[in-house]
Amino acid sequence: MGGGEKVLMSPALIGFALCLLLSCQCAFAVKSEEFRKCHEASFCRRNRAKEPGASTFALGGKLQQAAGGGLSGTVINKDFPGVELPLEISAYGDGIVRVKVTEVPEKKRFEVPDVLDEGLDSKKSPIVSARSSKDTWLTLGGNKLRILHDPFRIDAFVDGRPILSINGRGLFNFEHYREKPANISEEESGTWEEIFKSHTDSKPKGPASVAFDAAFINAEQLYGIPERATRLPLKPTKGLEGAESEPYRLFNLDVFEYVHESPFGLYGAVPMMMAHGAQGTAGLFFLNAAEMFIDVLAKAEHMIPGLEDKSRIDTHWIAESGIFDVFLLLGPTPKNVVQQYTTVTGKPVMPQLFSIAYHQCRWNYKDEADVNAVDAGFDEHDIPYDVLWLDIEHTDHKKYFTWDHSLFPHPKEMQNRIAAKGRKMVTIVDPHIKRDSGYYIHEEATAKGYYVKNKDGNDFEGWCWPGSSSYLDMLSPEVRDWWAEQYLLDKYKESTLTLYSWNDMNEPSVFNGPELTMPRDNLHYDGVEHRDLHNLNGLLFHKASVEGLLKRGKNNDRPFVLSRAFFAGTQRIGAIWTGDNTAEWTHLQVSVPMLLSLGVAGISFAGADVGGFFGNPEPDLLTRWYQVGAYYPFFRGHAHLDTKRREPWLFGEPYTTLIRDAIRTRYALLPYVYTVFYEAHKTGLPVMRPLWLEYPDEASTWALDESFLLGSDILVHPVVTKDAFQVSAFFPGKEPWYEVRTGAAHTGAAGKAITLPVTGLESFPAFQRGGSIIARKDRPRRSTTQMANDPYTLYIALNSTGAAEGLLYVDDGRSFDYEKEAYVLRRFTFQNGRLECSDAAPTGESAKGFALPNKIEKIVVMGLPKIAEKSSTFRAVLGDTDGKIQLESAVEPPVMGSGGDATALVIKRPWLSVAEDWSVQIVSS
Ligand SMILES: *[C@@H]1O[C@H](CO)[C@@H](O)[C@H](O)[C@H]1NC(C)=O
Ligand SMILES: *[C@@H]1O[C@H](CO)[C@@H](O)[C@H](O)[C@H]1NC(C)=O
Repeated sequence: MGGGEKVLMSPALIGFALCLLLSCQCAFAVKSEEFRKCHEASFCRRNRAKEPGASTFALGGKLQQAAGGGLSGTVINKDFPGVELPLEISAYGDGIVRVKVTEVPEKKRFEVPDVLDEGLDSKKSPIVSARSSKDTWLTLGGNKLRILHDPFRIDAFVDGRPILSINGRGLFNFEHYREKPANISEEESGTWEEIFKSHTDSKPKGPASVAFDAAFINAEQLYGIPERATRLPLKPTKGLEGAESEPYRLFNLDVFEYVHESPFGLYGAVPMMMAHGAQGTAGLFFLNAAEMFIDVLAKAEHMIPGLEDKSRIDTHWIAESGIFDVFLLLGPTPKNVVQQYTTVTGKPVMPQLFSIAYHQCRWNYKDEADVNAVDAGFDEHDIPYDVLWLDIEHTDHKKYFTWDHSLFPHPKEMQNRIAAKGRKMVTIVDPHIKRDSGYYIHEEATAKGYYVKNKDGNDFEGWCWPGSSSYLDMLSPEVRDWWAEQYLLDKYKESTLTLYSWNDMNEPSVFNGPELTMPRDNLHYDGVEHRDLHNLNGLLFHKASVEGLLKRGKNNDRPFVLSRAFFAGTQRIGAIWTGDNTAEWTHLQVSVPMLLSLGVAGISFAGADVGGFFGNPEPDLLTRWYQVGAYYPFFRGHAHLDTKRREPWLFGEPYTTLIRDAIRTRYALLPYVYTVFYEAHKTGLPVMRPLWLEYPDEASTWALDESFLLGSDILVHPVVTKDAFQVSAFFPGKEPWYEVRTGAAHTGAAGKAITLPVTGLESFPAFQRGGSIIARKDRPRRSTTQMANDPYTLYIALNSTGAAEGLLYVDDGRSFDYEKEAYVLRRFTFQNGRLECSDAAPTGESAKGFALPNKIEKIVVMGLPKIAEKSSTFRAVLGDTDGKIQLESAVEPPVMGSGGDATALVIKRPWLSVAEDWSVQIVSS
């Protein structure tokens, strides 16, 4: 949670807030004026003001074949003779090109570690080139890259079509490190020292910005560059008639009560953009962790030689420091781009099953009695949940890895009691370390010199929840290792193996720092300035915590750590949430585009606080939030200290029933959701998807961001307004979609949305794709642990050809054994009235050391209108049509969908084994 006005109201914190006000001059309440705008940052001001035109940067000499593959050369700046910037161009397969411009090693420009996938370099592939005096052409399968020599410019072509041009408008800029001049001119003000509010940034290294323009040829929409509370399609920020907006900003901050529709960056940053249009999709990833601003232009403002006749969307990327390290992702489909991007930055984690179930959190569950009461409340009201969370108040005076024993006298017994019901707990572990001489973490960190230093080389001190705090330098591998050890069971006293972790405030949040974060001239490991790595800070801390859980685990369990701050590559580490939202309908609404944007940028395992963190949701808002949240990849209810209690049963009927239904829906769908997470883990495709990701040719989907898909087979048109009596629903494709609740079928209306009635709070439009088969576990249980042996129900949703197909992935739900092939991947197909179950794992991989005893208790076939007329005469026959074994179960049509056109057949109690190959024929004799 972040700081803010409301915190001052909290009795528990008044003492602290007073001491904070007395101790520093900063205002505690945060307003948008507290955040730095482009014109207040000299690096952004100088670059944004540049007119397009001739670039002063050119290729320094011939490109040479580099030893490790790829090409190398230099880039020169004609305004600064003698400065030679090493250039490297490499390819990873045919669809990924990396262009890197840096300074000579002695200059020690910061190059971002810990982001690229470890195996990436092994994927390097050859580039074939052809040269003229003007340009060099590189061939990558069917794609081409043209490097123009003077000015230095890069154009990418897919199947002969230009798709991307870098420095076409001449805004490429690489400010090399230089000597401080004796005089600093007016227009250079802010380059060697800069003041914002009451904070002075000493800038000992001077100007070091890296900027470039990127034109997306024939693009019609841009997406990506999370995180901010806006729509998914990126609106222009520059060249607008009248109102000029701020550029998009990527700078991880603890933004108090963030507002809807703002280009400001929030807690995390992924400098990855995707451009889409009728001609295809392309992506760009700028590997740079410094503060960044990005303009999207309303119209093309300068002719790019050679591309005069092309429509395009221009962008301008401006980073404060670091290097130019840009990955061009050549598509040509949106799925290709996400796969290419996650080839570069890594595939998402495979989560433990419990962690994709429902989580109950609050700042704070007060004491052990409270924990027990909440846990019992779920059971009393037959509402499933898997994880109970403890926020900062559980610690001894905000000293993480400790317990407040007056409130939690028996932490171990408490965890074990919860674990005995098959549930887990999570405690918060934040990155600010209380400067308290009795605190072992502080003592050791001080003695070992593990803290981030201020510009003078002393341990940096800032204010956060514990009061005076210091911050561990997670750039140092040694510090990360040491931190990871703090999670060992004998170090983290009274913790158990069923306790998981939560990293909040890791932007890092520093209440009295500039913009509530750390001064940019703070010093990290190896003399790296904080400005260089700021956006990476949260990832490093998150990674160290995950390594901690890995270290302690003798069970080979997959770790689970939730983080607020994130960067490109966080998908490899764990889950994130969208921070401190508010209990308002607009925040429920914007949660969907925020999560979609994260998914486009590779971060699948994400959710928004259900109910809204600040404020008190009305029961109808809370109910709607649970209904939407049941389809978030990460599903957690959370609330601020000052809010009224809002456990799901506290609002009476009909709310308790409706919230129970929403959570149970999530649990029933877990086999499918887990399968989608597995797909994400293998391919990088997001769990929650915008419609255009699956239907890229349907232009009507490109701007849609209220509706979403969970995997490819569930479509949600969420209800996110008060007293809604209808929603606008777009059904992509030509095949029917079946309502999850009723089985009623709907089909697309020639590229147009239709209006769907919403008949009451219980009406929530979610649909299964015609042509899909989804395995569910429909028996209500207390938690995922109790569901392990439950039988499945297959929901077969037929398409217009009477066919459907689906996958089911199952493993032990917790360990890394699936990497040793201990899993089951089954394929179900339905065609001509025959359902088949077969192995879908790569040959010989499946089921080594993992047995799946579960049976199928029911099969529901939706969309058999013709056959259903002759309903009573059905039989299901195992094996061939003339098969010997007739199932004992009768076939009963229709039980669902009586309201719509579709009807459903139900095969009851077939008790077929999921792990075995079989087929069932429905015969109408
Ligand atoms: C530096 O500033 C001083 C005083 O403003 C001026 O006299 C001098 O010429 C300047 N030197 C250069 C190199 O611009
Ligand atoms: C119907 O579904 C089957 C199985 O997924 C698929 O092979 C077929 O192409 C689909 N038919 C149509 C018209 O979409």
